Amino acid sequence: MRNSTRSQVDPFIVMDVMEAARQAEEAGRHIIHMEVGQPGTGAPKVAMEALSKSLLSDALGYTVALGLPALRRRIAQLYGEWYNVDLNPDRVIVTPGSSGAFLLSFTALFDSGDRVGIGAPGYPSYRQILSALGLVPVDVQTAPENRLQPVAADLEGLDLAGLLVASPANPTGTMLDHAAMGALVEAARVQGASFISDEIYHGLEYEAKAVTALELTDDCYVINSFSKYFSMTGWRVGWMVVPEDQVRVVERIAQNMFICAPHASQVAALAAMECKDELQDNLAVYAQNRKLMLEGLPAAGFTKIAPPDGAFYVYADVSDLTDDSRAFASEILEHAGVAVTPGLDFDPERGATTLRFSYARSTADIEEGLERLRNFMATRG
Ligand SMILES: Cc1ncc(COP(=O)(O)O)c(C=O)c1O
Repeated sequence: MRNSTRSQVDPFIVMDVMEAARQAEEAGRHIIHMEVGQPGTGAPKVAMEALSKSLLSDALGYTVALGLPALRRRIAQLYGEWYNVDLNPDRVIVTPGSSGAFLLSFTALFDSGDRVGIGAPGYPSYRQILSALGLVPVDVQTAPENRLQPVAADLEGLDLAGLLVASPANPTGTMLDHAAMGALVEAARVQGASFISDEIYHGLEYEAKAVTALELTDDCYVINSFSKYFSMTGWRVGWMVVPEDQVRVVERIAQNMFICAPHASQVAALAAMECKDELQDNLAVYAQNRKLMLEGLPAAGFTKIAPPDGAFYVYADVSDLTDDSRAFASEILEHAGVAVTPGLDFDPERGATTLRFSYARSTADIEEGLERLRNFMATRG
């Protein structure tokens, strides 16, 4: 059967690493997972209790397309708690993960062939989803001196219909402060480009609070998720905040594309929002892991790293060690028993000389992983 040209998107290279790690484990080896982009913890306990109660009392059929009203209200309240932003709950749309929000936002905002700017390095699926929708991803090559975040000057002459930024970003963990975010919002406005802010790692910050685009403008789409801070990756629930006059546009697409986000997950997500203590405990583990990584990676020989502001990744420039990050990641897996992600997933141009290390797992795993990396690099010479 023939396929569309739109469907010819690239695979996630990290999935190949995960498969190689799985095979090694099947063969009896113990692997430390520094490739995964998800918490090792499950959903907060109170969220599971809330769900088990509603399993007995509720048919959990479709919800309305925009999501459970109580959840939309509670998400709006979070903007008051986190950023002191007064948000109308009508602007909140519950989505099947932030991945569902990308489909909705790109479909609502852009026409086939429109050019959408994304930072390189960046989360790989932006590019693939845009391509699959017949849109044109435009890599904005970011600079180390800008901590691998796009700046307004990078956008000149790009003729964009949209700009998607992420703060904290994957794979770097770097953030945009008020001034940097404001300059990008303004640069997008001048080009007539719609501004989309991926805020999925908010809540996972170590030095300063992350800035939401909503602190700077209401004329934007903000995307977030229960996957990371709320530790609910597999539940497939996220959200989007859109301008008031965009709600109905997105609602019609959501009704047709998904009907709704999973009802059970929405129930659990609502309860998860009251589990601050447990979630802050998870954050304390990441903070400890981050500290270990910032000491342990340079000690092992990965010296070209920048401290991440948020998320749970360290992005290392390994150009002094390899020009083939994929082969290097395989070598590390084989000889050190540590799975890491080659940068090519995040940056097709420069990723051959970068690696991403995740520290989302337990501190004991991070300690063991760093020790293995140190021994491996010592024998590599
Ligand atoms: C920057 C970024 N955005 C979005 C996603 C997708 O997350 P989800 O669909 O689970 O909400 C991820 C997943 O790792 C990510 O790193």
